Amino acid sequence: MTGGAGFLGSHVVDALLKAGDDVVVVDDLSTGDRANLDPRAELRIADIADLSALQRELGSRRIDAVVHCAAKTKVVESMTKKDLYERVIVGGTRNVIETTRRLGASIVVNISTGGAIYGETPICADENVPVDPQSNYGRFKAAAEKLVELSDLRAVTLRLANIYGPRQRTDLEGGVIAIFLGCWKRGEPITLFGDGSYERDFVYVADVVEAVLAALAGTYAGIFNIGTGIATSVNELVSAFSMILGPPPSVRQAPARPAEVLRACVNPTKAAREGLWRPTTALAEGLRRTAAAEGVLLA
Ligand SMILES: NC(=O)c1ccc[n+]([C@@H]2O[C@H](COP(=O)([O-])OP(=O)(O)OC[C@H]3O[C@@H](n4cnc5c(N)ncnc54)[C@H](O)[C@@H]3O)[C@@H](O)[C@H]2O)c1
Repeated sequence: MTGGAGFLGSHVVDALLKAGDDVVVVDDLSTGDRANLDPRAELRIADIADLSALQRELGSRRIDAVVHCAAKTKVVESMTKKDLYERVIVGGTRNVIETTRRLGASIVVNISTGGAIYGETPICADENVPVDPQSNYGRFKAAAEKLVELSDLRAVTLRLANIYGPRQRTDLEGGVIAIFLGCWKRGEPITLFGDGSYERDFVYVADVVEAVLAALAGTYAGIFNIGTGIATSVNELVSAFSMILGPPPSVRQAPARPAEVLRACVNPTKAAREGLWRPTTALAEGLRRTAAAEGVLLA
C-alpha cells in the first residue's frame, strides 16, 4: 500500500486489516500522518520517487497486491511545482510498478482522479470520454494511468471523484468539505471562490474503500469511474451543511482559482454495470457522519 498514512489510504488500510490482511505501508509522511495509521500496519518511510529507497525499505518480502495511493494531490500547486509533481506521480508510479512486479504481486489498484482528468464535464463523464486534464496534476495522473495500463500486471485504475470524510486534512486545497467543516467548528468565515456555482461530484470515503476492496477481490481490469454521478455546486454544499449545522459563521468571496474546472462529475455506470461497485452514501448522510466523526455534531 502506498500513501497509506494519508486520508484515503488510511481508510483502505483499516478495511484491509479488518479483513485480516497483513498490510505494509510505504509513505514519506509529506502530507500523511503516522497518527492516521493503525499500528498493526507496518510503516516503511520512503519516497516512492526514489527507487533504491523504495527497494531498500521493502527488501525481498513477497506481497500479493498493491494499492497505489501515494501522490502529490494539489491541483493549483501542481502548476508551480511541475517537476515535483512529475517526479512523484509519473516517476513514483513507474517505481511502484517495478517494485510490484519484483515482489511477486500480480495486481495493482491504481488510485487516479476523475475530477481532474476529464476537464470540463457539462455531462458527467464516462470512461470513454477522452481525457483533457487542465492541470499538471491531471496530466501526470493521466501519464501514470498509461504506465499502469502498459504493465503486465492485472491493473485496475479507479478514477475517483472528490472524496470527503473523516481524517481529511483542511489545509489541502481539494478538501472543500473538510475545510468548511473546520470553519463551522471554529466559527470562522467560509471562503467561496468565484460565485460558488462551480460543481463537484462528492463521494464518501467509505464508499471509495468499498470500490478498492472490490477491485482487489475480483478479476476486474481497466479503468472505472468511482463517483456519484451527481454534480453539487459549492453553494448547494453550503445549504446541505446549513441543514445539519445551521448557517455558516459568515461567507467571504475570493476570485476563482486558476487550473480549476467549473464542473467536474463522473458517471459511475460502468462500475455498477460490471458488478464492481455502486455508491451507497447520500451526501447528507456522508456530511452528517463526517461532522459527527470530527466532533462538530453529536453522533
Ligand atoms: N482526496 C480526493 O478528493 C481525491 C480525488 C481523486 C483522487 N485522489 C487520489 O487519491 C490518492 C490519495 O489522496 P488523499 O486525498 O488521501 O491525499 P493525502 O495527501 O492524504 O494522501 C497521499 C499520501 O501519499 C503520501 N505521499 C505523497 N508523496 C509521496 C512520496 N513521494 N512517496 C511516498 N508517499 C508519498 C503522503 O504522505 C500521504 O500519506 C491520491 O493518489 C490522489 O491523487 C484523491
